[in-house]
Amino acid sequence: MTSKLLPCLAAIAMLSIGATMAAPVNYTLPEETAAFKPGPNLDVVQNNCTACHSADYIKTQPQGEKFKKDFWQAEVTKMIKVYGAPIDQADVGKIVEYLSATY
Ligand code: HEC
Repeated sequence: MTSKLLPCLAAIAMLSIGATMAAPVNYTLPEETAAFKPGPNLDVVQNNCTACHSADYIKTQPQGEKFKKDFWQAEVTKMIKVYGAPIDQADVGKIVEYLSATY
């Protein structure tokens, strides 16, 4: 019994020593390289669409006449319904307007 318990205790002791010796790692994040283009309601978009991913996600979407209001409406709805983005219903229209006009 003790012969099995002892190595186990030793392992726990070593783990806790490791934990106390781990120094905090400090690092500075690189400058954000992607930015939203200027456009109507840019502030609303910056407040609602920058928490989880960069603006690159918007820029890399298909562009052209077929990908305007309906496309962005669906995209914003997906962010809210599927990914849980806490976006105020009152802001959805403004965001869709910005995205359709700018991208
Ligand atoms: C709560 C977090 C969150 C917020 C806030 C958020 N997104 Fe997303 N978004 C995600 C996740 C998660 C993905 C999928 C990431 C992946 O597939 O790598 C994503 C992906 C995307 C994509 C890529 C295409 C797709 O459908 O996967 C676009 C475009 C996008 N988001 C636009 C937006 C816009 C516009 C807003 C603001 C209205 C927004 N996101 C806010 C979480 C969020």
